[in-house]
Amino acid sequence: MMTGQGHFITLEGGEGSGKSTQAHHIQQFLKEHAIDAILTREPGGSEGAERIRDLLVQGKTDAWDASSEYLLFSAARRHHLVHKIWPALQTGQWVICDRYYDSSRAYQGVGQHLDMTFMDHVYQHIAGSFQPDLTLIFDINPEVGLKRALQRRHDEDRYEQMDIQFHHCIRQAYLDIARDDSKRCQLIQAQESVENVTRQILDILKSHFPQSLS
Ligand code: TYD
Repeated sequence: MMTGQGHFITLEGGEGSGKSTQAHHIQQFLKEHAIDAILTREPGGSEGAERIRDLLVQGKTDAWDASSEYLLFSAARRHHLVHKIWPALQTGQWVICDRYYDSSRAYQGVGQHLDMTFMDHVYQHIAGSFQPDLTLIFDINPEVGLKRALQRRHDEDRYEQMDIQFHHCIRQAYLDIARDDSKRCQLIQAQESVENVTRQILDILKSHFPQSLS
């Protein structure tokens, strides 16, 4: 998949880590540099994928087994790529995506023990060698994050219902991803104030994309 000049930035992390608030700050910052960026999210982001999202985020924790769940995420991901992400990048827009494949690695791969070789194989099938240009991993103590997440909504809580051990495991999975792919991934201290988190992110963006953001 060839892309134009747009860049693909993904935001990752546990529940209540503040990704969506920061996504708006990133979009605003890019706008100040005359860069048009769209905000999107997974699961969902395109019409077909949003329908699959409803199956995944509502209902009981054991509604799907891990492989069915991952295949549903992948079907939604493929729709999102084909109908939204790739067309936007090709026109030169930047794409800021709240969650992407690292969420599958952390939640289904590590959290639900799904075979990583199988997962990578499916990913390659739906996306080829396409990868984010930059992934920001929001690190937060799950006890703090869950408290924040529970304050804001009631109907999309399938993963929030998992026990605290599960969320500690997700946190560690993300720390490992950040360590293993340190060129693409940058760790954000997400427990700090919103302003401090924004500052960390803008510094990273400036150093990662010096030609666009000087
Ligand atoms: P979302 O409602 O966006 O949660 P948050 O606001 O915390 O980002 O995401 C829904 C849930 O889907 C979230 O708990 C993580 C999970 N998820 C996976 O398990 N695998 C995936 O591949 C993706 C994209 C999300």
